[in-house]
Amino acid sequence: MSRSSRARPRRGWDPPADPGEPEIIIVADPAGGASIAAARLVAAIERAVAARGRADIATTGGSTPAGIYAALAAPPHRDRLPWGRLHLWFGDERFVPRDHPDSNVLPLDRSLVAGRAPDGPLPPGNVHPIPVDAVIADEGRPAECARRYAEEIRSAVPADGDGRPAFDAVLVGVGPDGHLLSVFPGSAVPASRDLVSAVPAPVHVGPHVARVTLHPVVLDATPALLAVAHGAAKAGIVARLLDGPRELAALPAQRARRAGAAWIIDEAAAAELRPGG
Ligand code: 6PG
Repeated sequence: MSRSSRARPRRGWDPPADPGEPEIIIVADPAGGASIAAARLVAAIERAVAARGRADIATTGGSTPAGIYAALAAPPHRDRLPWGRLHLWFGDERFVPRDHPDSNVLPLDRSLVAGRAPDGPLPPGNVHPIPVDAVIADEGRPAECARRYAEEIRSAVPADGDGRPAFDAVLVGVGPDGHLLSVFPGSAVPASRDLVSAVPAPVHVGPHVARVTLHPVVLDATPALLAVAHGAAKAGIVARLLDGPRELAALPAQRARRAGAAWIIDEAAAAELRPGG
């Protein structure tokens, strides 16, 4: 099922006044969603490499990306992707070591990174984790992580005409409370002008650890925005996010509800969507 979309030129860091509606792709199951998301990422990577010899992709945390990484690690994508020209960044991270079970880098390490995953195709130097390990070693705090990561992004990821880092693709999951990245309902992050922010440990959703998150403006600036949601437990929030009134402060994931974005949802998570879109 897909909805008509209207592109609106946009400037600045505030959410667009009239963002339009995304394409909605409903699949039978998470595996189907993972293969469509992987194919869309590969297309974005190939476009970027053709245009500028390199691709910078911002990926998400949570449980959703593991299936997508597995699809990228398998044929046909594995043999086709220009791994040496692909750079992976993180939309957010939990303030835990890289090898901690709650780390958002761990699923990537386990499936794609050379020297960490069996036969991993992705060079370790092309992975840009939020520098939690280094900051912990320096006895620093999440705010220092945010400062360092913003610096690293600005030095490597091209910015668009409005000075917003323009990743070639951004992949986000959707939280049960309507959050994305680590931008939770009522978050102060969208109103800030910091590219990367430290976020206190959430109490209403797990894991209950401090976070570091990119500003959601990166969702506006990318040419390929993919939002992925699976499972019956998300049916209510998905309907609120896509069919309900726009309440961006209470539902930060609505920042991904825009023209040019693709929402990849399995039937269980789409169960409460208005028929016919
Ligand atoms: C995080 C994520 C977060 C995630 C959603 C969905 O670090 O927790 O970046 O925004 O995408 O919570 O998580 P699931 O994919 O596990 O449902």
